Amino acid sequence: MTAPKKLFIKTYGCQMNVYDSERMAEALALRGYEQTGEAAEADMILLNTCHIREKAAEKVYSELGRLKPLKAEKPDLKIGVAGCVAQAEGEEIVRRQPMVDLVVGPQSYHRLPEMDAALAEGHRALDTEFPAEDKFDELKRRPKAKRGPTAFLTVQEGCDKFCSFCVVPYTRGAEVSRPAERIQAEARDLVEAGVREITLLGQNVNAYHGHPGGLAGLIWALAGIDGLDRIRFTTSHPNDMDDALIAAHGDCGKLMPYLHLPVQAGSDRVLKAMNRKHTAEHYIRIIERLRAARPDLLLSSDFIVGFPGETEADFQATLDLVRTVGFGQSYSFKYSPRPGTPAAERDQVPEDEKADRLARLQALLTEQQAAAQRAMVGREVTVLFEKPGRMPGQIVGKSGHLHAVHAEGPADLIGQIAPVRIRDAAPNSLSGALI
Ligand code: SAH
Ligand code: SF4
Ligand code: F3S
Repeated sequence: MTAPKKLFIKTYGCQMNVYDSERMAEALALRGYEQTGEAAEADMILLNTCHIREKAAEKVYSELGRLKPLKAEKPDLKIGVAGCVAQAEGEEIVRRQPMVDLVVGPQSYHRLPEMDAALAEGHRALDTEFPAEDKFDELKRRPKAKRGPTAFLTVQEGCDKFCSFCVVPYTRGAEVSRPAERIQAEARDLVEAGVREITLLGQNVNAYHGHPGGLAGLIWALAGIDGLDRIRFTTSHPNDMDDALIAAHGDCGKLMPYLHLPVQAGSDRVLKAMNRKHTAEHYIRIIERLRAARPDLLLSSDFIVGFPGETEADFQATLDLVRTVGFGQSYSFKYSPRPGTPAAERDQVPEDEKADRLARLQALLTEQQAAAQRAMVGREVTVLFEKPGRMPGQIVGKSGHLHAVHAEGPADLIGQIAPVRIRDAAPNSLSGALI
């Protein structure tokens, strides 16, 4: 018997890439690969990449530079680039980076076993097609090996929205929803493997239409699975927040009170230029309806500052929207022109202006986040414990509101849900005592 080959995967970008990395490892297990946490001992290194902003894309090339000596030392080492940079720049990578043996896009990684066989015969392999077949039909059923208490589950892929700044419709392709029965089967397998919380993923997850009742229908179907205690979903678009999904936030006890609903900007002029197809007012109305359904809902959003044409007055409208809504958590970015997207061709806001706006926005968002965390002190929350903490005797998990919570407690509570009284709030986590 030959020793198993070792696979090292480095994952960048969004949760969908985290999910894809797991599935790629499972596909390559069929070829005898076992995952390792050490790049130095790997027979294959896969970089699962992100193309969303310039900095994200550049990371691939700097990582390839770092891997050069390893490859020189170990000529049999296979180096692969997967994910959204592979999709966007695959052919160029093959041309410019002779050390790269394999390039595979996000919709074709079910072909990895065949690609690996080609590598074994001394070929290089490039696959960035949007194949006619659905990768989920081709991938094998997931192994039921014991795993941690939380998992991601991709239910929808791609995006048809074409926001004028965004590469996702080009790197991930058109919107596709997986059939609900398949998702239910995968969820049941995950629960059997020890999972208690599932986060449903999609670039535009609330446009999901693989169930007649849409995403809300799928959530209700999954809520019927015994042993699955918590359901979340991300990322949603405001225009796809339908009545049933809003109602589910109030009625479905397993759906957690946290929603990531990116608004990007608060100025209607900028929202229009971004092709978001809704106004600030429309977004605020949706939030009001969500909060009427679930008063303690914690909201998070993404923001882009310095979008082409954004004036100081437009930026002030973003700050106004943030003050009106009040976010518990947020992600904010300087606009980054992406090749092939409409906004990249427009007049750009100067870099120092973008940096200044980002700092001002982040100051406000940080203040709101801290206030939301402080508001938890004294409250009782339920925590799904995921792992030991850094201090001995400590365990760490997430509350329903997705706050990281530390508590003193026995390690056998890991994988369990338990009530905790919050005692203290730090900038990025809470601590408390088991009740
Ligand atoms: N599908 C999700 C998010 C996709 S990308 C949605 O529609 O909300 C995640 C975030 O990256 C976006 O919400 C946006 O805030 C940010 N982003 C996307 N393209 C960007 C760009 N060109 N420059 C800066 N930020 C960008
Ligand atoms: Fe990108 Fe817009 Fe689609 Fe989100 S909705 S993935 S921001 S194009
Ligand atoms: Fe990045 Fe692709 Fe996700 S561009 S954010 S990894 S969909």
